[in-house]
Amino acid sequence: MLADIVVDLQYGDCGKGKVAYNLCRTKKYSHVIRYNGGCNAGHTIYHKGEKLITHHVPVGVFFGIPSIIGSGCVVDPVRLKKELEDLANAGANTKLLSIAHNAHLIMEKHLEEDAKDPGNLGTTKRGNGPAYRDKYDRSGFRAEHFDNLPATTVDLYRELHKTDENVRILFEGAQGFGLDIDWGDYPYVTSSHCTSGSAIMNGIPPQAVGDVWGVAKIYETYVGTKDFHGKGDVFTKIQEVGQEYGATTGRPRQCNWLNWNQLEKAIALNGVTKLVFNKVDILREVGQWAVINNNEVMEFDSEDNMTSWLKSRLTELALKYGLLTEVIFSDNPDTL
Ligand code: IMP
Ligand code: MG
Repeated sequence: MLADIVVDLQYGDCGKGKVAYNLCRTKKYSHVIRYNGGCNAGHTIYHKGEKLITHHVPVGVFFGIPSIIGSGCVVDPVRLKKELEDLANAGANTKLLSIAHNAHLIMEKHLEEDAKDPGNLGTTKRGNGPAYRDKYDRSGFRAEHFDNLPATTVDLYRELHKTDENVRILFEGAQGFGLDIDWGDYPYVTSSHCTSGSAIMNGIPPQAVGDVWGVAKIYETYVGTKDFHGKGDVFTKIQEVGQEYGATTGRPRQCNWLNWNQLEKAIALNGVTKLVFNKVDILREVGQWAVINNNEVMEFDSEDNMTSWLKSRLTELALKYGLLTEVIFSDNPDTL
């Protein structure tokens, strides 16, 4: 068994959908599995020239690859049904989707509770927090107990282990390291584990992990109520040029420079072997380059100077952890 993992190193919305989509093109994978989160996620992909947003569904359905909503996820059956209809209209083979029997469901009462956002965190109001709470409270609703779900259920043990097939999994994460329930800025976090470690909780041994694709943006965005937006016109400009509005809720994303110290931590804790910086073209258009390092803004006078600085820091990290082997700077929405 081999499993590659796509993990977001910031606050979600860094382009995991794009990276997972391009990895599927290599035809290397027998399965694509979403390993955390629910329909709070919004992954933007470009398929046959059309812009599409997936919420629960892994991108394997566009490539003829069996795709699974994993045991670490929560599923809203009503929204999933609609999502599948939309993706089928866009040419996906949605029959390839199944749901882990031990994934939990988001019920009407979870949605009602989240709609009130009692913690005032600026949630996506998709019922995630209450559904995960009930899971850990042991009063939740597992997929295996329901008929008429929009997709069949599957036992990940049987599917991935009791088979003669050469299993090659691409794990597509949701949200990001900065929103992780343990490692994010609690309580301004989501209710699931968003790290690479979360992927292996979906029924695979740690030894199976091959590459961990860490996905970052060349600047940062965050959606929620904590104060994140940088001070100055440049951040409004980044928001406009980068079209930084939530794929799920349409809310404006707060913008700031890339935080080097946070990124270093995310690379270390997720064991990143391949790193992608997305949306480099946005800063090129805005015409300003900077990172936050040790709480201070470091400005650069060109793209080259910023990427060279990042590359030398990353080389130091690669030497230290012996993991990171490739760094890619990518424009939006170009392929890798
Ligand atoms: P929840 O996951 O809906 O409970 O929201 C908790 C926090 O995570 C809020 O700040 C949301 O805006 C944020 N969040 C949840 N899912 C995503 C996502 O897919 N992308 C970006 N932010 C997200
Ligand atoms: Mg998103």
